[in-house]
Formats: sequence, structure tokens, C-alpha cells
Amino acid sequence: MQRDKVYMKDTIAIKTARVFPQDTNSHGTLFGGKLMAYIDDIASISASKLCRSSLVTASIDSVDFIRPIRENDAVTLEAMVTWTGRTSMEVLVKVTTENLMNGKKEMAAISFLTFVALDESGKPKPVPKVIPLTEREKWLNETGEKRANMRKARKRESEELIKFLSSDEGRANDS
Ligand SMILES: CC(C)(COP(=O)(O)OP(=O)(O)OC[C@H]1O[C@@H](n2cnc3c(N)ncnc32)[C@H](O)[C@@H]1OP(=O)(O)O)[C@@H](O)C(=O)NCCC(=O)NCCS
Repeated sequence: MQRDKVYMKDTIAIKTARVFPQDTNSHGTLFGGKLMAYIDDIASISASKLCRSSLVTASIDSVDFIRPIRENDAVTLEAMVTWTGRTSMEVLVKVTTENLMNGKKEMAAISFLTFVALDESGKPKPVPKVIPLTEREKWLNETGEKRANMRKARKRESEELIKFLSSDEGRANDS
């Protein structure tokens, strides 16, 4: 069933996990890499709720680890598609941590990710438009195009850097 629009609220995906000792570093806080995997996973579920097709992660914007997530805390990730292009979807992931001993909750990190929907041959395919309803959703949606343009500029810079690093000049100082 191909839909041409989907409400933002219908793309919400939530995951909660307890932080076990094997998930932590020597400071007793959640490994950054583990959190990144959680973020990518929940964001992909949210994007799938919109496109209902296969997809790939195209980019992850910077993730600022604002608060530590400690052993035995509950970490909750909430993802929602905030903006759609032609074939791409922007997903916001909010990470909160809860101290299960006293119930104190804090926002620990946020990130935007971009996914691209793919057809059977692995080519980008059009996605339904995401529709905001609340004021907060409208703000996130209206500011999405500006963020997408920044990503396009950043991608061009990455491509130039890759070209340089792959050139004879870029490899000249390699030992
Ligand atoms: C993502 C990918 C499919 C895009 O393919 P492409 O040939 O660049 O396709 P296009 O230039 O037509 O871009 C398709 C859409 O993706 C968006 N896009 C491409 N690269 C992007 C990036 N780095 N960040 C954000 N958006 C990106 C484009 O803006 C475009 O959006 P729109 O259709 O909504 O306007 C391709 O780069 C790819 O397969 N990358 C590897 C993905 C992967 O393996 N991910 C797993 C992590 S290892």
C-alpha cells in the first residue's frame, strides 16, 4: 500500500534498555559506540514506519554526549521522522537517562540522522511526505530543509577531502 503522506506522530519509535556492566567503559558509563548503535537502530525503525521499504543510513549528524549514562540507569531513545525530501528522511533521536534508584530523568543526547529509501534494485526511491500537527512538530519540520542543505554542503566537502586523500598529492606524506 503506497501512501503519499504520513503524520509525524505515526513515525514515533521508542526503545528502553537497562545499562549493564558489559555495556560500560572504565568510568562506569555507557560506551559511546553502543549508544550510536542504539541511535541508528531506533532511527531506522522510525524511518521504516514512514517509507515501508528498505533503506540505508545516509548520514548521522554530530552527536553531543551531554550527560553520562551510568550503569544500572534506564536509557530511553525516542525517534521521529521530522522532515522528508524526495527520497530522504530526517529522523530526530532524543536520548534520556533515568536513575532507577531515585527516578531522576535527564536528556543525555540528541541526534539527527538521514535515511534514504531504496527500491528493489537498490536505487533511491520517493518517500511519502511527513505531516506535522503540533507547534513543536511544525517547527522541526520547517527547519528541516535548512539542515538538509547544510548536510549537502558537508557531503560535498567530504567528497573533496576523499578525492584529495586518494590523490598522489594527498598520499605524498604517507609513510
Ligand atoms: C545514501 C545513498 C543511497 C545516496 O545515494 P546517491 O547516489 O548519493 O543518491 P542521490 O544523490 O540521488 O541522493 C539521494 C538522496 O539522499 C540524500 N543524501 C545523499 N547523501 C546524503 C548524506 N550524506 N546525508 C544526507 N542526505 C544525503 C540526497 O540529498 C537525496 O535526498 P532527496 O532525494 O530527498 O533530495 C548512497 O550514498 C549510499 O548507498 N551510501 C552508503 C549507505 C550505507 O551503506 N549506509 C550504511 C552505513 S555503513
